[in-house]
Amino acid sequence: MRVGIIVSILLSSVFLFYTNCGKVGEYGIATIAGDAAAGEVVYTSVTPACVSCHGASGGGVFGQAGSIVGKAGKVMSTVRSGISTMPGYSTSDISDQELIDLAAYVATFTP
Ligand code: HEC
Repeated sequence: MRVGIIVSILLSSVFLFYTNCGKVGEYGIATIAGDAAAGEVVYTSVTPACVSCHGASGGGVFGQAGSIVGKAGKVMSTVRSGISTMPGYSTSDISDQELIDLAAYVATFTP
């Protein structure tokens, strides 16, 4: 019974890994899968919140920032470094796992 549970957990991890590959693999982190749902929480709760400048669906907020739709590949570097009026976030603001989750979430934005 317990073995069956472990096997199904393993199988679903493999499944999640493959289904996320296209999105996460492009950041060069093929072995760590981002969790888009967890990323959404970070997107709205970190201070200052991404959503306040980039909007709920990434389209941008007038006077704050433009669209980040299709820019998931830039999340990993931009969030650490900052750009223009966007602050850089340290690992105490956003952990490495949360950063990957954020990238997975931004990858769900569609034009
Ligand atoms: C204070 C406003 C502000 C906040 C908060 C903010 N950004 Fe930005 N962001 C910007 C601005 C300004 C740019 C530069 C491009 C533009 O003007 O749209 C930018 C650019 C980006 C880019 C594109 C970089 C590029 O090279 O094209 C990404 C991706 C991004 N932000 C993600 C995020 C994420 C994820 C968060 C939350 C962790 C966040 N931003 C928080 C203002 C903000």
